[in-house]
Order: sequence, then structure tokens, then C-alpha cells
Amino acid sequence: MSGVNLGPKGGANGGPKGNVAEFTTVDRAPDSAWFIEFMDMANAIPEYGRIRRTLAAQLGQLGGKSIVDVGCGTGDDARELAKMVGSSGYVVGTDLSSAMVDEARRRGTEPWLTFQTADANQLPYPDNIFHGARAKLVLMHCADITAAAAELVRVVRPGGRLAVFDYDFDTATIDHPDVEATREIVRVTSDGHPNNWSGRQLVRRFSELGMFEISINPHTVVMPYKFFRRTVEGRLAMAMADGKLSLSPSELDSWWQTLAEADRIGRFFCSITGFAMGATVSQW
Ligand SMILES: C[S@@+](CC[C@H](N)C(=O)[O-])C[C@H]1O[C@@H](n2cnc3c(N)ncnc32)[C@H](O)[C@@H]1O
Repeated sequence: MSGVNLGPKGGANGGPKGNVAEFTTVDRAPDSAWFIEFMDMANAIPEYGRIRRTLAAQLGQLGGKSIVDVGCGTGDDARELAKMVGSSGYVVGTDLSSAMVDEARRRGTEPWLTFQTADANQLPYPDNIFHGARAKLVLMHCADITAAAAELVRVVRPGGRLAVFDYDFDTATIDHPDVEATREIVRVTSDGHPNNWSGRQLVRRFSELGMFEISINPHTVVMPYKFFRRTVEGRLAMAMADGKLSLSPSELDSWWQTLAEADRIGRFFCSITGFAMGATVSQW
């Protein structure tokens, strides 16, 4: 197939420029722009708009409220939230990555929206300070997910709301004729994430932290080929380098070519499911 450079040699330097499993350490990546572009691609997918609306609804009535968006990335979601809380409220977007925070600030803010570099595992805020906290696609990347979940609860006042969205990477579906290779690729890609089952664990994790009125909304994201490839090719290249993939480079290349051809004729299908959890912080 002409013009299609598939498999692990996709990046300009002979390998993919980024790896979604490295959202944990964006500032140490050779090209932080890769992660910014990745989030822009993701947030442009229509289902992401529905996820944002679910999370906003899970936070409850927003006018005049104080909300922290933990792991805010480029800050686009925090900007949307700032419009919802209005000038009588405020929003703080925090992210571990200073490259992300710089980009969030560069994209502009309302006066009542600020951005701060902070580790979700150790938020620089007193207890019970916000009306609500939100974390979209973040806990699944946190090096210490237990600490990060506890921090989200700690900074929200009793009766306040949490809204959290994470994928469950084992829910990936890819329509490919090679069933065994596809199963292996889903497993290897999933296992490459720090907290690959975070989505299915949200109810248990936050119940154990004393949250109540917990609701769960599943969202299945149908992934365009270009976005799917960007999502997994870095992880697969790393798995191959680590000897964790039984496929040879040419078998992987051929697996990709089948998908590229399916995309060319409009028959590519891939999806992944995540879970949006809303919950109330207990009064005690
Ligand atoms: C997949 S992006 C999601 C960004 C944003 N929430 C969105 O949905 O557009 C994950 C973000 O979490 C950040 N992150 C990863 N580990 C973190 C941690 N321990 N504390 C704070 N942010 C973290 C990354 O830097 C990245 O910006």
C-alpha cells in the first residue's frame, strides 16, 4: 500500500513520537507537543463532548461554585467549566506537567480561572475547600491512583460533588480478521497503562472513600483510525522493544495495513468504553 507507513516505525525519528501510557511523565517526553496534539484530537471527537456534558451534570448546579479540574491538560475543559460557574464562582485547573499548564495559560482564561502545576497525589490545597472536583482521563495515568483519589475527596467540602471519567482499556473493540493478534494487541496495549482497569474500579474505589449518591454513566467512544493509531502505536512499539509482543515487526505491519485498508474503504471500526462517575462527599 503506497504512502502508508504503518507499525512501530511511524515517527519522524524512526519510532512513534509519543506514547499515551507516558501521560504520567509528559515533561520528560522528548516532544510534549505530541501530548497536546493528542488531547486536541481526542477532545474533538463528538463523544468527548457528551462526556464533558455528563461530567458537568454530575457536578450539579455550577453557577457560583468553586471547582478544581485535576489533570486539566490544555485547560479546554476548565475553560468550559469557568463559563458555567460564571464570575461569582471560580475554577482552578491543575496538572503535573508544566508544559500542559503553560499551554493552558497560553490559550487564555477568564479572570476567575487559574492554572497551577500540581501533583494529583498531593494537591496544594487545604481540606474541604472546593464545592466540587473533576478529573477526566487522569486517575488512569496517576502513578499512585489511591492517593490521587483520596486527594480529590479531601479537597471537596462535605456535601460537595466529584465527577471522574476514566477508560477501561480492556473494553477496546477492533474489527480485524486476525482475532488472535487483535486480542493480544488489546491486552498488551491495556497492560501498558499504569491503571488500565481504572474505569471499572471507580465505584469501589470511591465507595471505600466514603462517597455516596454514586452514579455511573458509560460512554463508548468510536475511534477514527488516525486517532486509534496514535493511541496505540507508541505502546505497541514499546511492547515490541520489551519483548512483550509475540508478533514480528512484519506481522504487526501487516496487521496495521489491514486496518489502514479498512479505513480507506470506510469499513474501519474501533471503540473503547469509559465510565463517568458522579458522587457526593460524605458529611462525616
Ligand atoms: C489524558 S490527559 C487528560 C487531560 C484533560 N483532563 C482532558 O481531558 O483534556 C492526562 C493529563 O493528566 C496529567 N497527569 C498525569 N499524572 C498526573 C498527576 N499525578 N497529577 C496531575 N496531573 C497528572 C497529564 O499531564 C495530562 O495532562
